[in-house]
Amino acid sequence: MANSQYEYVKREFEFDRRLPPSNWIVVRIDGCHFHRFSKTHAFEKPNDENALRLMETCATAMLKKFPDIVFAYGASDEYSFVFREQTEFYNRRESKILSLCVSYFTSVYVMKWKKIFPNKELKEPPYFDARAVCYPNLKTIRDYLAWRQVDCHINNQYNTCFWMLVKSGKSEQEAQLSLKGTSSKDKNELLAQQFQMNYDDELAMFRKGSSVYREKEGKVVKNDYGDPIKRTRPILTVAHVDIIGFSFDKPNDAVALSLMNESASLMIEPYPDIAFGYGFGSEYRYVVPI
Ligand code: GTP
Ligand code: MG
Repeated sequence: MANSQYEYVKREFEFDRRLPPSNWIVVRIDGCHFHRFSKTHAFEKPNDENALRLMETCATAMLKKFPDIVFAYGASDEYSFVFREQTEFYNRRESKILSLCVSYFTSVYVMKWKKIFPNKELKEPPYFDARAVCYPNLKTIRDYLAWRQVDCHINNQYNTCFWMLVKSGKSEQEAQLSLKGTSSKDKNELLAQQFQMNYDDELAMFRKGSSVYREKEGKVVKNDYGDPIKRTRPILTVAHVDIIGFSFDKPNDAVALSLMNESASLMIEPYPDIAFGYGFGSEYRYVVPI
C-alpha cells in the first residue's frame, strides 16, 4: 500500500486488541430489544418453538461457516460460541471475531426467517449485540456453559408459571406477586397442583436450551482395492441436554477429552505440515518435521 501523508491516522489511532493466547474464546450474541421484537412478531409465550428453531438454524450455520467454533449453546434470544483454545482465527483480533460472528448470525436470521415463518412478515430488522470473553481452561468453560444453562432453567421455569397464571385469568401483576419469593420446588408444585402439569414434560429445548456441536459419524466405505475401510466425518448435531449436571469425571472426563481431541483434529486440517498430534490432560503437542 502506498504511503501517504495521511497514513498516520491508521498508525497512530487504530488499535487491534488481540485476545490472549491459549484461552478458549466465547462470543456471546444477544438479541437487542427482543422483548419488543417478540411482541411485534407475536411469538408464542413463554416459548415460541419456531423462533427457537430459527436461532438454532443460525447457530448451526455459524459452526458450518467458522470451523474453529467447537461448541455453541443458546436459549431465548442468546447464543454462546466457543472457539477452540488455540484458534488463530484472524490472529485472535477481537473486533474481527466479534463483528464477523454477529453480522453472519444476523444475516442468517434474516435469510431463514421466511422459511421458518412462511406466513409472518419480518416487520423490523433484528439486531444483536456481542461480546467476547476468554476462559483459561476447560473447567471455566464448562462452568460458563453451566451458568448459561442455569439461567435458562431459572427463566424458563419462572416464565412457564407466570404465563400459566396469566392464561388462567390472573393479571400480570397478580401473577408476579404469586411467584414472589417462591423456590424452584414451589414452582413445580404450583404447576402440578393448579395446572396438573409436570414441568419435566415440557420440551427439553425449552428447559435445557440448545447445544450445537460436531459429532463424528463412522461409515464403512470401500478403498481402491475393494477393501472395507472406516471413514469418519463430522456431523453437525443439535441436542437439548444437561450441561449443569456435568462435573469433570476423575481421573479422566470423556466430554472434556473429546473437546480437546476435536480441537486437536481441527488444527491438523488447516496445517498439513503437522505430522502428529499427542495430548493428555489440558495440553496438546504437535510434531512438525523440519
Ligand atoms: P436487551 O437484550 O437488553 O436488548 O433486552 P431484550 O428485550 O432483548 O431482553 P433480554 O435479552 O433480557 O431477554 C430476552 C427477551 O426476549 C425475553 O424477555 C422475551 O421477552 C423475549 N423472548 C425470547 N424468546 C422468546 C420466545 O420464545 N417467546 C416470546 N414470547 N418471547 C421471547
Ligand atoms: Mg436480548
